Amino acid sequence: MEQTFVMIKPDGVERGLIGEIIVRFQRKGFRIVDAKLMKVSKETAERHYFELKEKPFFGELVNFITSGPIFAMVLEGRNAVQNARLLIGATNPAVATAGTIRGDFATDLASNVIHGSDSDENAAREIDLFFQRQRDFAIYIS
Ligand code: PPS
Repeated sequence: MEQTFVMIKPDGVERGLIGEIIVRFQRKGFRIVDAKLMKVSKETAERHYFELKEKPFFGELVNFITSGPIFAMVLEGRNAVQNARLLIGATNPAVATAGTIRGDFATDLASNVIHGSDSDENAAREIDLFFQRQRDFAIYIS
């Protein structure tokens, strides 16, 4: 069994979608290992999205993620990273398939309801970052 990190973004929390989204993951067979409602600091947001720091939208993305509470989860299941991203759908809601979370609930690329790790390596890094597992993050923000 693998683990992945999923975050319901501020727009998803604000719109009352936490319950609906949890149900979808549980019905698919994921087990919730850890979960919490939290406010993300600017530092944590910048660490989380460090791979995008050269993108023109980086500042907007950090501002958005820190704009209100998010709901962070560690989910466990077979091929957790890949299967969670299948449920989540394409990053751009305009092309996300109906039946996926973004396809059903999101319309805007900048506020697309949910994040899911895109690799096992990033899942481990993001779980460590949001749930204070033991690891030195300095290597990711140099
Ligand atoms: S990229 O450019 O291909 O590396 O980015 P992509 O994989 O499509 O998206 C990575 C995350 O950046 C968010 N994103 C944006 N936020 C704000 N504005 C714009 N224009 C924008 N484009 C992409 C996107 O929602 C992804 O967030 P996460 O949380 O990783 O799903």
